[in-house]
Amino acid sequence: MRYISNEEIQFTKGLEGVVSNSTQIGYVDGEAGKLYYRGYDVADLAEHSTYEETAYLLFYGKLPNQKELAAFSKKLASYRALPSDVLDRLVDMPCPCHPMSMLRTGVSLLECMDESCPIAEDLESKKEYGIRLIAQMATLTADIARHRENLPPIEPDPSLSHAANFLYMLNGKRGEPLAERVMDVALILHADHGMNASTFASMVVASTLSDLYSSVTAGIGSLKGPLHGGANERVIQMLKSLSSVEEAETFVERAISKKEKIMGFGHRVYKAYDPRAKIFQGYARELTELTGNDSLFAIARTIEKRVIEAYADKGILPNVDFYSGLIYHSLGIDGSIFTPIFAASRIAGWVARVIEYLEDNRLFRPRAIYQGPLDVPYVPIEERE
Ligand code: SDX
Repeated sequence: MRYISNEEIQFTKGLEGVVSNSTQIGYVDGEAGKLYYRGYDVADLAEHSTYEETAYLLFYGKLPNQKELAAFSKKLASYRALPSDVLDRLVDMPCPCHPMSMLRTGVSLLECMDESCPIAEDLESKKEYGIRLIAQMATLTADIARHRENLPPIEPDPSLSHAANFLYMLNGKRGEPLAERVMDVALILHADHGMNASTFASMVVASTLSDLYSSVTAGIGSLKGPLHGGANERVIQMLKSLSSVEEAETFVERAISKKEKIMGFGHRVYKAYDPRAKIFQGYARELTELTGNDSLFAIARTIEKRVIEAYADKGILPNVDFYSGLIYHSLGIDGSIFTPIFAASRIAGWVARVIEYLEDNRLFRPRAIYQGPLDVPYVPIEERE
């Protein structure tokens, strides 16, 4: 029996800091706390753009002119409806499962219900399937949310914008102008974020030339985790479990003293305030005041101030998930639907980066340092202790 000597091989767990590919789709400046989509500051896009325009930008690398945007928006709207019996099959589950699991299963059903969807499609077909999935993920999310409330699905309205239609399919009525604008901004802000775990997962699957639906289900599965997209649901659970600012102060002191991870804070790349959290904080303040949730906002601010005091020097500050949940909660959305909304936005980044990588594909296949024995002799079972 022998061992391999590994001392010369260096590696960082979780590929931390390792560059896996080049891209022109987006850039996260962790030190400065800035986020760019195709070179545009996401703060500018949040102020002036729409999700349709942002998805077009991520996909095609430029802001569309009016004709291009109208055609893209029309195509997205035409793709919103789901094949009729996808939802029937999806809700026919023996046990209730998390909406992210239903979303993941729903995307798999969309592939299996589409006989025109070959495994290793050419890139142009993948692009078309990608645009269709951008449209359908919102519909799936809304249908799953209504199913949880024992409500029938709402047919998409092709005359509405992506964000307005999503709220309409969720609630069965038009949202207030502020609610529709905030949802549009939320979808813009979640659309892409460098080589985050779910984007990387979708690209690893794509690099084997598997189908796009398999890439997207891998992304959904990864995003579900509380260290990633699942944190927003944990944040609102945390905030709603606290009944006062005083209780929040006690909670956060205990968490700090016990060195517990506080959901909605910290980031592998940002060592400054997540620019998305900054934008969300403003909308959260406005929406919680309008909807009588200002006590929740005060609790959030109490936790934020104390965590920043304790951890800012370690680069642990609010991330995208800290205030987004307060916004969705103020819009009357259940916490279990927060991460599906994240996925319904991030589908644009997943697909854009999968397509970009496939244009110059290389199978992802890293290595591991083997630290076990080799050439171990096989002992027949009757001779083993
Ligand atoms: C998203 O990658 C992306 O871009 C993701 C995302 C996107 O748009 O795709 O931005 C979306 O996933 C945002 C993150 C949502 N997750 C959470 O809010 C969960 C809570 N956060 C942590 O689990 C953590 O901050 C991570 C997972 C987000 C990042 O963790 P790292 O880079 O692996 O850091 P780490 O766990 O190694 O922590 C380093 C130190 C540790 O202390 P020491 O052992 O060095 O003393 O920082 C501490 C950690 O204990 N720390 C925290 C903390 N996060 C890190 N301490 C308290 N609370 C926290 N939230």
